[in-house]
Amino acid sequence: MTTAVIPTPDAGTDDLSVWPASTARLPHGGLTVGGVDLAEVAERFATPVYVLDEGEVRERCRTYRDAFPEAEVLYAAKAFLSRAMVRWVQEEGIGLDVCSAGELELAVTAGFPPERIVLHGNAKSPRDLESALRLGVGRIVIDSPSEIARIAAAVGLEGRQKVMVRVVPGISAGGHDKIRTGTDGQKFGLSLTDGSALHAVARILAQPQLELTGLHCHIGSQITEVKPYLTALRRMVGLMARIRDAHGRVLPELDLGGGHGIAYRPGEPALDITALARKLRGELIEACAAAGMPVPRLAIEPGRAVVGPAGVAVYRVLAVKHTGDTVFVAVDGGMSDNPRPALYGVRYAPRLIGRASTASPRTTTVVGRHCEAGDVLAAGVELPGDIRPGDLIAVPVAGAYQVSMASGYNMVGRPPVVAVHGGTVRLLVRRETLEDLRLRDIGG
Ligand code: LLP
Repeated sequence: MTTAVIPTPDAGTDDLSVWPASTARLPHGGLTVGGVDLAEVAERFATPVYVLDEGEVRERCRTYRDAFPEAEVLYAAKAFLSRAMVRWVQEEGIGLDVCSAGELELAVTAGFPPERIVLHGNAKSPRDLESALRLGVGRIVIDSPSEIARIAAAVGLEGRQKVMVRVVPGISAGGHDKIRTGTDGQKFGLSLTDGSALHAVARILAQPQLELTGLHCHIGSQITEVKPYLTALRRMVGLMARIRDAHGRVLPELDLGGGHGIAYRPGEPALDITALARKLRGELIEACAAAGMPVPRLAIEPGRAVVGPAGVAVYRVLAVKHTGDTVFVAVDGGMSDNPRPALYGVRYAPRLIGRASTASPRTTTVVGRHCEAGDVLAAGVELPGDIRPGDLIAVPVAGAYQVSMASGYNMVGRPPVVAVHGGTVRLLVRRETLEDLRLRDIGG
């Protein structure tokens, strides 16, 4: 397969800075990712199709390992999970953060060591806890007081389960209200400010079935600055010192969650992972020295920043329509495979692929095929003026929280996921067929 790199003709619409590093231009407007022509992927697997660059995922895992050599890096499975993803993460030496029996069982049945998995959730179902204990999950993160007795009872008199406490450190950070979790007044965690975190710690320490290994916080998602993490770290170390003073217990772990922000469009800021690692390390050493405490082992839980930039969504244009001043380009997917623009107002940078166009760019609104007006994938984007039905549109930075949040809306069926690597493509998750949808409805 050719991977000839063509010089950039037009920086406005031809900026590949948010695409996987392996992306290369072909003659006649084509693009390859992982050495595979995206138009060929669309031909072979039909559209919409999600393409994951395995090399990019692995490279991102390595960036984390290299930046945080002494820390435990846990990939947040909610961003995207499949059996291949489980393997890649494991081979790259990274642990997992899961938040349901579904994610947990998929990971363990794909061969992931359960002791390297952390289970989260603000409302863990009996099934979640049963799976966690049966499979021997590494740590369970306690999110509410009622879980303490529940987990202790489920563990039984002979057993012992490692747990952490999810603390709300009182920090507002994150790309959107719906993904800010660092302050009181949202559903996650136990407040540092009102004393509920400390109270929960006391109760856990009184349960012989539970071994408290440390504290956890996750202040939000799509955070592009280091500062809120440093503030969180200081407050968490402060709480660890209070626990030591009150109970004589020095906790060996501190998990600062994920939330590392990425650029969805060229020019947008992203969190600098190397700077984060360096500054966290410095701050941790300083804060612990000030409190006269040994330095706990740090854990982090990136999801989006591992897999987001490795994914590309490929759609086919079904209709082009001029309504008033707006040009609508409608594609064969939409809010059922990517609810993020509708939920969080996220803006993407779609691009025509598969053919060259000399037409001048025109402001276009890319919409989906679903039956509601809010089904907009990208409003006000520059695309060539001659886009027509049958064209292919690719959306970069599609690897996180799209397939994992896909729905059955309008019975369209969820798209397949393919992996590209070293010039080859393979199917990871097949398309949800109309038959799949029919079979679930048992007609009662
Ligand atoms: N750890 C915990 C406890 C979390 O709740 C999350 C994300 C993560 C780690 C990973 O955060 P990340 O590094 O991926 O930002 N659906 C939203 C994002 C929701 C994030 C929920 N928790 C979106 O599409 O932006």
